[in-house]
Amino acid sequence: MLICQVTDLHVCPPGHLAYGAIDTNAMTERALAAIAALDPAPQAVLITGDLVEGGLDAEYALLLSLIRRYLAVPVYVIPGNHDAREPLRRVLGSLPGLGDGHGFVQYVVEDLPVRLIMLDTLTPGHNYGELCAERLDFLERSLAAAPDRPTMIAMHHPPFRSGIGFMDRDALRDANAFAEVLGRHRQVERIICGHVHRAVTACVAKVPALIAPSACHHMALALAPGAPGAFVLDPPAFAVHRWSEADGIVSHIAYVGPCPGPFPFTG
Ligand SMILES: [Fe+2]
Ligand SMILES: [Fe+2]
Repeated sequence: MLICQVTDLHVCPPGHLAYGAIDTNAMTERALAAIAALDPAPQAVLITGDLVEGGLDAEYALLLSLIRRYLAVPVYVIPGNHDAREPLRRVLGSLPGLGDGHGFVQYVVEDLPVRLIMLDTLTPGHNYGELCAERLDFLERSLAAAPDRPTMIAMHHPPFRSGIGFMDRDALRDANAFAEVLGRHRQVERIICGHVHRAVTACVAKVPALIAPSACHHMALALAPGAPGAFVLDPPAFAVHRWSEADGIVSHIAYVGPCPGPFPFTG
């Protein structure tokens, strides 16, 4: 069973470029087309936040039209710091998990072999992330409800520092409280995130955590203290999480391309 994760699409109003330079709309379209071409097809596609650049209805409408054009499987979304909950719900409300009620955009997907807990780390008006007591309680209760099912947690802001200072300033503020909740449960096999626009892995409460690369622009690998913020156009990519009874969750990074190949491999 495959679950695709695409992140940080930063879709703009039609005809606009992100930062006046990056055609995130075209890059999003290429990424969704690449996911649609996967063989075997994934059973679900997750979009882990920063769905759009400015939280505008027109941006969500364009994203929805691309989802409808390319993806025939269920698409599950969570917000990032660039999103706005009410426009997201208003325009994307037909996507599973989003239709019921108001408040946070968080929910549990129960009908896949891996149980998905979709968390909302958005703090309106700020770039940093937050879970707060109410959302941490949702996580605690969701984990307590199914202690024996393999589980993946999806959240936009990673619950660990990347070492890229200008991104870590906007990290998840209650990462320690998140790790404490995680430490009380044993069934979480993977944490998947976005926000940093690079592929990064770490462990949180002994659970492997992965920041998936963006399907659009990337942040520079700026690990020197005080390095200025910068983005680079590394190859766009997404993650493919494969689950099987025998192997658990195995996560791949897939590049959008076009890349040369495939060429015969004779071993
Ligand atoms: Fe982003
Ligand atoms: Fe973000």
